[in-house]
Amino acid sequence: MFQWLDGQSVLMRAPAKLNLHLQVLGRRTDGFHDLETVMVKLALHDTLRLSKLSSSSSEDPSHINLSVLACAPFFQQAAGSLPLIPTDERNLVVRAARLLQFETGCTAGADIELYKRIPVEAGLGGGSSDAAATLVGLNQLWGLSLSVTELETLAAKLGSDIPFFINTHTAALCRGRGELITPIPVRCNFPVLLAQPENGLSTPAVFKKWGEINAVSDQHSVGPILDALRLGKSATVSHLLSNALQSPAEHLSPQLLQLTSLLRKFNLPGFLMTGSGSCCFGLCHSFRQATSLSSHLRATRMARVSVSTLHP
Ligand code: C5P
Repeated sequence: MFQWLDGQSVLMRAPAKLNLHLQVLGRRTDGFHDLETVMVKLALHDTLRLSKLSSSSSEDPSHINLSVLACAPFFQQAAGSLPLIPTDERNLVVRAARLLQFETGCTAGADIELYKRIPVEAGLGGGSSDAAATLVGLNQLWGLSLSVTELETLAAKLGSDIPFFINTHTAALCRGRGELITPIPVRCNFPVLLAQPENGLSTPAVFKKWGEINAVSDQHSVGPILDALRLGKSATVSHLLSNALQSPAEHLSPQLLQLTSLLRKFNLPGFLMTGSGSCCFGLCHSFRQATSLSSHLRATRMARVSVSTLHP
């Protein structure tokens, strides 16, 4: 997951994720929801370069200096309407670095360059993955020697999805808020078509809407999709995709509803919205199918699109 560059910098790959199964079990007294979800990492990733502050710098030696460069394929097509990606404490990367300093007493700072490819407010876990990569990378850069379990505990303080990205497992069954992780074997891979409608969705708003329309949600057992992933039965995985947050998200976003209606007409083995949206994905038969559908979708201007695969 990390690579030393020159003794002064660490390069991190922060993968996106998909939820192949997401069941909301109920609302908790702390305002969160208990989940049962299957998450898989994607080849699509952000890149972070974490560097020691140069000794000649006159800045505060514990300064966290974040710069963000938004990259293709998702950001290039939206030029002029780029979502604002904050570089201050609103960004989970800065919060992760500050938490690591606070918990360990470390007084070192860092320059962090974030090359952003994963769209925001998409349900692809980009911000969470960046935060996890920051914890793992700074643990190396600052020589803190925290264990994976200690990093996962810190990650859970920052956000529900972040512990999943600390480890290098491709896939996991996640419970609780999403922070209780059981790695699972995956013996198949797919060309994945990603389609992100123009408008993102706020996670709290989607969960709130789920509460309002809860009565109509279907119950799906997780066992069959875990078996299909373990046995490498791609077609069965495609048929078993389910996300209890998709219907509430479609209530909130007419653009998403329009997109899922169109995806339904494509001859895809399976498609779904990921997480709390608004990005949708299709599991395709072949790269030929994925690239041909992505051209078709791009032409409709209903979504920004890309093709990826599961994390190698
Ligand atoms: O943990 P995270 O910061 O990613 O959660 C963002 C918001 O999403 C929470 O404040 C909550 O409104 C909602 N959420 C939830 N149940 C979860 C995860 C997130 O209600 N399991």
